Amino acid sequence: MNILGIESSCDDTSVALLDYSDDGLTILAEKTASQIDVHKVYGGVVPEIAGRLHAEAITPVIEAVMSGHDKPDAIAVTSGPGLITGLLVGVEAAKTLSYLWDVPLIPTNHIAGHIHSVEVKSEKEKVKNSIVFPALALVVSGGHTEIIFMPEDGVYEKMGKTRDDAAGECFDKVGKLLGFDYPGGPKISLAAKDGNPAAIAFPRPMMDDPSLNFSFAGLKTAALYWLQNHTAKSSSYHLEPKTLQDFCASFEQAIIDVLIAKTLRAAETCTPKSILLVGGVSANKKLRETLQQRVAKQFPDAIFLTPEPKYCMDNGAMIAAAAYREAKQKHFTPWRAVVADPNWELGETHT
Ligand code: KG4
Ligand code: ZN
Repeated sequence: MNILGIESSCDDTSVALLDYSDDGLTILAEKTASQIDVHKVYGGVVPEIAGRLHAEAITPVIEAVMSGHDKPDAIAVTSGPGLITGLLVGVEAAKTLSYLWDVPLIPTNHIAGHIHSVEVKSEKEKVKNSIVFPALALVVSGGHTEIIFMPEDGVYEKMGKTRDDAAGECFDKVGKLLGFDYPGGPKISLAAKDGNPAAIAFPRPMMDDPSLNFSFAGLKTAALYWLQNHTAKSSSYHLEPKTLQDFCASFEQAIIDVLIAKTLRAAETCTPKSILLVGGVSANKKLRETLQQRVAKQFPDAIFLTPEPKYCMDNGAMIAAAAYREAKQKHFTPWRAVVADPNWELGETHT
């Protein structure tokens, strides 16, 4: 079965065609048009610009992916959560193709897409579905920081979430203070590589709170105060190279410590057979390595899954992968009934 996945919820117009069967999946074609170079001028994603760029990119990207291929058996489209300006473009494109090709539609949740990104591999061979249930996922991106429990495939229960900023948002905002281009997360982790993570004692917000919720706004403020107290500001805060490395390493460590403590605490309560780390921030090497080590030590019977770095970011392939279960069960939604829902909570019914 071939599934076309369409993703446009933030700043990537990404489309992929997957061949999916009980043996696993293969990517037949994929293409992404990134908007980062435009948004970085503004220091973050500007929704109106995002919508316009998605509208320009969506048809050429779909054409490039479908070139040389027959029409798919189903179309999966990110219908939420995300920026309404971007979601509308992907959803309208998917509805139009569904009508023209007479191909069924599957509105797909963006977070479910990130969770299924662990099944997507770039090599051209069949990859077997590797999530074993019950599963636990830490979803960390620019818009989300959530712990999701999946007792079985297709069932999602939110155990914890951020009360304010997402982890990626915190990385990006502090990156901006340091004068890094958007998104600041990858630049902070690069600078952190040779720094001392114990150099600055940043707070670990809510780490000892018994809930599985997060809060990163206070950490961002602590980083700002530290910069205000230790350096003069021009357009951004300038640190000497060694201090910059130590600052980034200490800041990164504070985020990692909180994310890992809460995920392992969640795992203690639900004994998952697989533990997943997904979303844009899961590209962070130190986070990946540390969580993997901790899972191996504390939950030796659980498998640890995280996407290839390429599929940590938003992509159409993960959306097609997340829709496979619905496609197999012929659980489709008539195109007239599919709407973009910027606040679609994973696990809740989508209208
Ligand atoms: O999932 P994604 O592509 O988009 C959203 O759905 O938000 O995630 C993008 C986020 C950005 O905040 C970016 O800074 C962060 O992922 N990110 C990282 C790293 N690579 C990407 N954060 C920390 N370390 C990284 N290596
Ligand atoms: Zn995302």
